Amino acid sequence: MTRQTAKVVPFKRPLVASIECRDNLEYMRSLPKESMHLVVTSPPYNIGKKYEKRTSRETYIEEQAATIAEAVRLLHPNGSICWQVGNHVDDGEIFPLDIILYGIFKNHGLKLRNRIVWTFGHGLHCQKRFSGRHETILWFTKEDEYTFNLDPVRIPSKYPNKKHFKGPNRGKISSNPLGKNPTDIWDIPNVKANHVEKTLHPCQFPVGLIERLILALTNPGDSVLDPYLGVGSSAIAALKNGRHAYGCDVMREYVDIALDRIEQLHAGSLRVRPMNQPVYDPQGPFTDET
Ligand SMILES: C[S@@+](CC[C@H](N)C(=O)[O-])C[C@H]1O[C@@H](n2cnc3c(N)ncnc32)[C@H](O)[C@@H]1O
Repeated sequence: MTRQTAKVVPFKRPLVASIECRDNLEYMRSLPKESMHLVVTSPPYNIGKKYEKRTSRETYIEEQAATIAEAVRLLHPNGSICWQVGNHVDDGEIFPLDIILYGIFKNHGLKLRNRIVWTFGHGLHCQKRFSGRHETILWFTKEDEYTFNLDPVRIPSKYPNKKHFKGPNRGKISSNPLGKNPTDIWDIPNVKANHVEKTLHPCQFPVGLIERLILALTNPGDSVLDPYLGVGSSAIAALKNGRHAYGCDVMREYVDIALDRIEQLHAGSLRVRPMNQPVYDPQGPFTDET
């Protein structure tokens, strides 16, 4: 079902920003197969948020399977799919969506490269279980040959001046001067009230989280799709780094915000939290409180 006509925003040529207010199956079926180098998204968790209708777990899984099948059809042979999820919660019991959805990806023959744990500081304070402060990103590839660029996403080494203490390199710096692998545990603030990127969307991605995936898993000029686009954080991360952006969302108000944010990015006025900015530590030297 198309709720509104498509809007394609011309960006710094030759970049494309194809953003539509549309159901994702319909939108994805309009795109050519193997045209996306990265499909990165966060689907609804079926927990009754404003933008979703709570259904049975079976129906939810069927709907996810249909969207995942389209994502696989659209995926370039050297491309990646990143599915960012948390827990479905029912009557106090939690159902981890990565565990539930993993088999669907495997049935398409995809290979899991990382299960990234995204940790953050803010969220509900639970009374009858430990408060949840992490979600995961399942990163799959279609083939064994896939794009992976580590250098653009290296983070500062803890001990950059550490030296080899024996062997032929004794006395030489032992760490990579470009920094270290960011590992599969990412501590990045989630977008809550004081975050510079906050819009009215209740669960938007921090742009820096998606930038890290885009820089590592795609090359400049590649195409990035988010089939649950929300307020366009994936599209912003893509365009900001010279990749084409494709995405859709069923909620008109979110799509309008996404288009507005893209225009702000284009104009140089969009505020985003820098990708590798350290997390605020009240005892540490940094003053950022996002
Ligand atoms: C968890 S949010 C994603 C937020 C997004 N990552 C961002 O940064 O704003 C899930 C989004 O999926 C959208 N959505 C739900 N069902 C959809 C469908 N069938 N097709 C397209 N979008 C859908 C919702 O409106 C919601 O904005």
